[in-house]
Amino acid sequence: MRITYHGHSCFIIEAGKYKIIIDPFLSGNPMAKIKPKDVKVDAVLVTHGHGDHLGDAVDISKRNNALIIAPFELVNYCNEKGATGHPMHIGGSYNFPFGRVKLTIAHHGSTTDTGATGNPCGFVVTMEGKTIYHAGDTGLFSDMKLIGEINRIDAAMLPIGDNFTMGIEDAIKAVEFLRPRIAIPMHYNTFDVIRQDPKHFTDGLKGSQTKGVILGSGEGIEI
Ligand code: NI
Ligand code: MN
Repeated sequence: MRITYHGHSCFIIEAGKYKIIIDPFLSGNPMAKIKPKDVKVDAVLVTHGHGDHLGDAVDISKRNNALIIAPFELVNYCNEKGATGHPMHIGGSYNFPFGRVKLTIAHHGSTTDTGATGNPCGFVVTMEGKTIYHAGDTGLFSDMKLIGEINRIDAAMLPIGDNFTMGIEDAIKAVEFLRPRIAIPMHYNTFDVIRQDPKHFTDGLKGSQTKGVILGSGEGIEI
């Protein structure tokens, strides 16, 4: 499995012949080096309706004829904009051709230009025998212990920016709960209020069983 970071909370995951994108905030993202039209994917996963996560999801879905996989209310919003969505909800999982997706809780909000779009989520995605956990935007919660117990997580993507989500200290605690093989920080340095030094996060993981991996925008890792 190859994981490529595109700044903020956006990742492209490739495994076998399939490719998915999570939280495709590219237009207007000062960290993103690719354009929505460069994205070729089989599915678009969106954690919640905020612009820095929903981003170019509808456009990418239409161009690629790719499903938007998100909480029910957000999929309804995307469908109204002409995308094709597959609605899910917290605790539910589903086997797609590219792999298995399960929605986890996230403590946050979810709104678009037209109002509330239900609950936000995180994703546990398994492709080709590898499992990743993308927390979405969330504060720390102790059920992360359960997510780590139920899943053998190869890579966890965790927000560290603080202000809107967990900060570094809580993200280090999240790693303790989740016990992933590697942890990748996200949701930092895009805006002034979420400025962080990700090295403080990876340094905080030294001596634990998890390796902290900082990816620059456009950089990837094979796991
Ligand atoms: Ni948000
Ligand atoms: Mn956000």
